[in-house]
Amino acid sequence: MFTALRLPLMGLLSFTLAQAAVAADCAPVQQHGAEVFANECGVCHSVTKGAVGMMGPNLAGVVGRKSGSLEGFNYSQAMRSKNIDWQAENIEQLITQPQAYVPGTYMPYMGLASAEDRQAVVCYLKEQH
Ligand code: HEC
Repeated sequence: MFTALRLPLMGLLSFTLAQAAVAADCAPVQQHGAEVFANECGVCHSVTKGAVGMMGPNLAGVVGRKSGSLEGFNYSQAMRSKNIDWQAENIEQLITQPQAYVPGTYMPYMGLASAEDRQAVVCYLKEQH
């Protein structure tokens, strides 16, 4: 009886561990992230280093950059005073609901409802240097 119980439990445990490994690894979602970026962000943001003239700041190298700090971009006062370093976690928070995360931001974006899409697009941004 004990073995009969233990086997399904072991199966469940290794399944859960495999899921966690996938969540931490960006590689499998890069393609999806690129698509989400093109559909949701690309109209306002470029990831081509040095490209200017779009409504939003260039996002090449945004992971690890201080918020509101790109030279030559006219940020809102709200973004300039946010004073954080952009990392996967807080970019995901920003794009969940920009106006809630940075009240008064100029980013006129309603938010990305799917957590899976948010994670994928941030994975994509990590690769844009
Ligand atoms: C309709 C235009 C628009 C869309 C769509 C948009 N953004 Fe933005 N974004 C902006 C603007 C404008 C700012 C500057 C905000 C400010 O100064 O308050 C900004 C700022 C940002 C910043 C802060 C950058 C910095 O230098 O501090 C990040 C990160 C960002 N956007 C990511 C995204 C992502 C990811 C998406 C897609 C899920 C997205 N944005 C969609 C216009 C947009």
